[in-house]
Amino acid sequence: MTFDSPSLRPRMPGPGAVRPAADLLHEARASERAGCIPEAIERYEAAIAGAERTGERAILAEALRRLAVVRHQCNESQLARELCQRSEAVATECDNAVLAAEALNTHGAIDVQTGLLDEARRHFLQALERGGSSRQLHARVEQNLGVVANIQGELDEARNRYGRSLEAYQDASDEHGCAIAYHNLGMLSADQGLLDEADQHFQKSLAIAQRSGDVHLQGLCLVNHAEVHVARQRYDEAQRNAEAALAIFDQLGAVIGMVYRETGRPGLAESRLRSAIELASGAEAVLSQAEASRELAILYQAMGRNQEALGFLNTAHRLFRRLDARKDLVHVGGKVAELETTYRAVVREWGQSLESSDSYTFGHCERVAQHAVAMAQQLGLDEQQQTTIQLGAYLHDVGKVRVPHEILNKPGPLTREEFEVIQMHPIWGIELLASVEFPWDLKPIIRWHHEKYDGSGYPDRLKGDEIPLAAQIVGIVDVYDALTTTRSYRPALAPADALKEITRCRAGWSEPVFAAFQRSLAERVVETGRVAA
Ligand SMILES: [Fe+2]
Repeated sequence: MTFDSPSLRPRMPGPGAVRPAADLLHEARASERAGCIPEAIERYEAAIAGAERTGERAILAEALRRLAVVRHQCNESQLARELCQRSEAVATECDNAVLAAEALNTHGAIDVQTGLLDEARRHFLQALERGGSSRQLHARVEQNLGVVANIQGELDEARNRYGRSLEAYQDASDEHGCAIAYHNLGMLSADQGLLDEADQHFQKSLAIAQRSGDVHLQGLCLVNHAEVHVARQRYDEAQRNAEAALAIFDQLGAVIGMVYRETGRPGLAESRLRSAIELASGAEAVLSQAEASRELAILYQAMGRNQEALGFLNTAHRLFRRLDARKDLVHVGGKVAELETTYRAVVREWGQSLESSDSYTFGHCERVAQHAVAMAQQLGLDEQQQTTIQLGAYLHDVGKVRVPHEILNKPGPLTREEFEVIQMHPIWGIELLASVEFPWDLKPIIRWHHEKYDGSGYPDRLKGDEIPLAAQIVGIVDVYDALTTTRSYRPALAPADALKEITRCRAGWSEPVFAAFQRSLAERVVETGRVAA
């Protein structure tokens, strides 16, 4: 169903007047087409106010009707119906039968979409009666009556309506309208087993859709015609049609998935996006695959399925990078930067979700990440390494999800066995992320953030520079943060006492790491105004 309005040539107000309502209406339409809905609503309302002031009734009727369409799209159907009624009343007052019929047709379309079929039929029949002089409007209303009849199973009635709609579109020289009518007739003929007729209708519809570049209608014709081919056992043609349709819907699949995601239907969004990825991957459409992977990652993030989100972010990152290497194809620099921002958000959220059930460690990941990045800057590490350290800091304790809660929060000293369980968390973290291939080298941080320079750490008792620098950095700030926050087994230490404790265990870190730690601490003191020592 279409909501197109007839063109209007309103009287222009004289100089010195406020913005002409016709201009506002025109701008509102442009905003609506561009998808800027709040702006469109604002401009339609301004056009309504303006037209009320100047008494331009035709513009008023049209602005009311257009606003009804937008309000309906925003799920405000009751308000939309009231606007349709106002539009019809204004059009009737100024004897504009076509605009009154347009308002009734829009009202009927809203009824169909909200399941009120009898109401819809009543409104369409009134529209037909009022606006019969416009062939174009007549064609659309007959088409809508055909849709209602079809939904209600009155197939002969539907055929008559579609036939009249086609004639009216032909009279009005509206080729695209004809294509829609042929498609609807094709569907109906197929349902009634009139396969020759169905063939002809689909062929005509497809030819026009191709000429006019209506991709969506082309896809529909191909799919629905393929079913007719199957019914006639023309399997080669069915396959050709279905493959051509798949190629078209491949372009649309990811978009539909995004719409489902944004409208709170995650199950549907997931299956759409997954099939979009599969199709793109089969067709080696790298950019489509990368974009659909990113969208699926965002969906998983929203669903709290962080591990899967990371998996798809990695795929997207790898594919964008691959495209980036082929500079001739597409500029993806901005896309990679955007993706890295999403990546950071997913990793941060995951890290925080681990600590949310434990009030003692709340904020731990964020503090460790910030402090570790400050240290990395002190040591002159580049941006790539800083990002690695930041993300590694968010995820360093991810393996603790496998440590029983009563051990993690035990309000007293741990037994030897309990401590052995705790010491497994770096390995469990690696196991958990085994299938995830990060674009940054995070795993050494997760595995070795409890190793000590003198070989007294765990889980692998690495020694000296065997311990990667990033793991040493996260390790020392992790200890500092643990000391300066309250734990279930002891109160928080003052910063000066924590520093004393770390200095006592000085052998745990290399000289440059310890020095950078002291400098970063001094800077934090300046920033926060606290006296640390
Ligand atoms: Fe840890």
